[in-house]
Amino acid sequence: MKKTGWGILGAARVNERLMPAIVQSDLGELIAIGSRRPGASRECLLKHLPTYEDKVSCFDGFDQVINHKKVDVIYIPLANEEHTEVALKALRAKKHVLIEKPMTIKSEEVKILIDEATKNDVKIMEGFMYAFHPQFDRIMNTIKSNTLGDINYAHSMFSFPIQPARFYRINRPMEHGGGALWDIGPYAIHTIRQCFKENPLKVKAIAKLNEHGADISTSGLIDFGNSKRATFDISFECTRRSEFEAFGPLGRVKCPTVWQPEDEQAKIIINTESGGLTEEVVPAANHFTLEINHFNKAISSGTPLKLTTEDAFWNIKTLECIQESIEKDSWVSL
Ligand SMILES: NC(=O)c1ccc[n+]([C@@H]2O[C@H](COP(=O)([O-])OP(=O)(O)OC[C@H]3O[C@@H](n4cnc5c(N)ncnc54)[C@H](OP(=O)(O)O)[C@@H]3O)[C@@H](O)[C@H]2O)c1
Repeated sequence: MKKTGWGILGAARVNERLMPAIVQSDLGELIAIGSRRPGASRECLLKHLPTYEDKVSCFDGFDQVINHKKVDVIYIPLANEEHTEVALKALRAKKHVLIEKPMTIKSEEVKILIDEATKNDVKIMEGFMYAFHPQFDRIMNTIKSNTLGDINYAHSMFSFPIQPARFYRINRPMEHGGGALWDIGPYAIHTIRQCFKENPLKVKAIAKLNEHGADISTSGLIDFGNSKRATFDISFECTRRSEFEAFGPLGRVKCPTVWQPEDEQAKIIINTESGGLTEEVVPAANHFTLEINHFNKAISSGTPLKLTTEDAFWNIKTLECIQESIEKDSWVSL
């Protein structure tokens, strides 16, 4: 079977994890990488895949990658506010697109990307790698099995103290994609949303902003209607947490490892009214490789994508309304 050719736009930090995942995947091969900074794409390749120096083309710019005949899929690891413009170019060139979370920072732009992908008969997916880890399916299957009853409350917490080398993530305002909300917030909100069949009705959040207008910490409440609700707390100044918990009348499921690095063991704790407490260990799994394999398969065999564009739209819509709630200090309806 023909392998799917991958092109990367941008010499980003996350490439450290994506580039090995592409070359390790069963059906994919890395064809090209481009950067707007002269020499940066080659430097990135030599740093993360030194033995691939002669196998991957490096370009100073994006157009050569987008228009490369062997490139079928474009991976976009650019700064959050740059995703849309570059993704549109790739879609118009009839390339499939895997775009890092958040897909965009405006829900209207998600609609534009969906329309363009449909028009060009190509696929687009938001890169939530954590959803490809076996622990995610275990949590979701527990919820769907009704062991816990109908979920009526969920809570997520994602934090770590941000290091000075990473201050570029908080050096621009929220409306330009800076801060915790658009960085770690997409995970916290995405996981919560997966527990409910309904979309959020309204949100309320408070935040601590820095001098650039980026949120350092944000806490909030999401109302799903019919007394179904969720709370979240994300922070760049609290100690490390990667926790998610969902509750129903019959029990609860907790995962203290939900968005953690791929090389660590995962844990799931289930506690039911009838069966008491069970703790499960889920072996480490490289969710990036699993995500790339999934996307390759969807392209080569036409299997459906696990993360839909509708899901991306509602995630961005929720995040957008949380941002508005912080700005207005009031509830915001979706
Ligand atoms: N799934 C995950 O686990 C995960 C993890 C981290 C981030 N992300 C997401 O991935 C995307 C990229 O995040 P990131 O932290 O990897 O981005 P980053 O390192 O800040 O890079 C973003 C872009 O900025 C440019 N750049 C990189 N280093 C630069 C420098 N020293 N000076 C000037 N420009 C530079 C690069 O484009 P050029 O090469 O064209 O200049 C790069 O593609 C974001 O959407 C983020 O939310 C996902």
